[in-house]
Amino acid sequence: MRAILEKLDEMRSGARLGGGERRIDSQHAKGKLTARERIDLLMDSGSFEEWDMFVEHRCSDFGMVDQKIPGDGVVTGYGMINGRLVFVFSQDFTVFGGSLSEAHAEKISKIMDKAMQVGAPVIGLNDSGGARIQEGVSSLSGYALVFERNVLASGVIPQISMIMGPCAGGAVYSPAMTDFIFMIQDSSYMFVTGPDVVKTVTHEEVTQEELGGAITHSHKSGVADLSFTNDVEGLLSLRRFMDFLPSSNREDPPVRPTADPPDRMEEALDTLVPDNPNKPYDMKELIVKVVDEYDFFELQPEYAKNIIIGFARLEGHTVGVVANQPLVLAGCLDIDSSRKAARFVRFCDCFNIPIITFVDVPGFLPGTKQEYGGIIKHGAKLLFAFTEATVPKLTVITRKAYGGAYDVMSSKHLRGDLNYAWPTAEIAVMGPKGAVEIIFRNDIGDPEKIDERTEEYRLKFANPFVAGSRGFIDDVIMPSDTRRRLCRGLAMLRNKNVENPWKKHDNIPL
Ligand code: HXC
Repeated sequence: MRAILEKLDEMRSGARLGGGERRIDSQHAKGKLTARERIDLLMDSGSFEEWDMFVEHRCSDFGMVDQKIPGDGVVTGYGMINGRLVFVFSQDFTVFGGSLSEAHAEKISKIMDKAMQVGAPVIGLNDSGGARIQEGVSSLSGYALVFERNVLASGVIPQISMIMGPCAGGAVYSPAMTDFIFMIQDSSYMFVTGPDVVKTVTHEEVTQEELGGAITHSHKSGVADLSFTNDVEGLLSLRRFMDFLPSSNREDPPVRPTADPPDRMEEALDTLVPDNPNKPYDMKELIVKVVDEYDFFELQPEYAKNIIIGFARLEGHTVGVVANQPLVLAGCLDIDSSRKAARFVRFCDCFNIPIITFVDVPGFLPGTKQEYGGIIKHGAKLLFAFTEATVPKLTVITRKAYGGAYDVMSSKHLRGDLNYAWPTAEIAVMGPKGAVEIIFRNDIGDPEKIDERTEEYRLKFANPFVAGSRGFIDDVIMPSDTRRRLCRGLAMLRNKNVENPWKKHDNIPL
């Protein structure tokens, strides 16, 4: 018996070494942790239960019969993050470059299936050279196993990808179908075709980092939700991030007790909006002052900065925040900001997370670039997402809410549950100046008359009371009182129950 136990110990130690000391050293030399070190950092200490440690590939070509490494390049299993169950796979770059064989894919599929059955998130720590070249089409079929599960799990359990090394070719499409993508600066990259192919086809010279590094995807393409400076920062931030999410669509997000009083007044908010309607202010100041403990987990902070998205809590309950940012493009909606916010709103709606919307939007961004880029379809995504969402929706208009963008930004007309306005709100078809220049075009040569008309328009429409008189705004509230009003509203809406008509699925303008 003792001999058998010793043999097991020996086999486990062998498997834990992955591709061996030399390759582990090389991984460390690149500033990267190993697959197992990453899991240790991510999960609560001692909570990880590994599965399929002894799985091997079944490839017999290219001398692979003699090259079998237990685990086959991916560590899989389940464990806890702050006491809550998650499933994880962590690709081991020291074993065939973390490349995906059929057996490797089956290991990932196995934990995804179980995660779906028990209702727990799946976290993928990606560090892989892509399809296991020696396996050919078997590897491609393996990718498809994972793709299929990504799709079926979408909206059922949260799926999170942390890209911690290479991720290229068709392999990018598994993370792309997960809910959030995080990347590590200088050691991770994602692209459909690498720099060499790019050079051959388009004659562009571009480095890996420029083409698909963490900065590229978090600033330019919007593919990544966040980028971190190294593995440790990324994994610890991921632990914090997971605390905001429910385990599945069958559950509410966890409630975190807070000592922050729900009726905390923030006098500074009464002077946040400048007297001059054309002067910007920082919407993040409002978000941070309103939420529990000033704790706002922003996503995509460097991409489409004219809209802000992220998670926070009110009275301990997770909320998704969407807010126009007057500091960038005056807070206009454009293609990128519409797509960014629409996907976030849909995530919140899938996972029972109420949405708080702060509005200061002068309209959609005009111009050929936007029209040729399809702003009509992209803007419609946000309109669609807000409308279909059945989670509690609370909206505060701080200043401008003009035109179609007013309707889009979680207005009462799109089934907003609670729609508040600050006294500084201007809810109208457009700003007073633009409106007067159209409806009093004949007076344009007479500046005095134009000024008079503009003032008349401002008094009549550039305020929240016309909308209030129609019931489109539930109340005009003091800015300093915003947190209290939102906390109360959220508590009132806790048992909200609204269902959309039955359908196979909707047809959002993609
Ligand atoms: C098998 C692979 C591999 C792969 C790397 N290795 N990629 N083995 N299949 N796809 C092995 C290497 O042979 C090497 O083995 C070890 O992993 C480390 O690789 P290095 O090249 O030494 O590392 P590095 O210099 O850091 O370069 C990493 C890399 C490079 C950029 C990822 O290895 C590379 O370009 N690999 C090929 C990438 C690729 O073309 N993949 C297929 C893409 S198509 P030893 O024994 O020396 O340690 C694809 C389709 C997916 O993925 C389709 C989905 C539908």
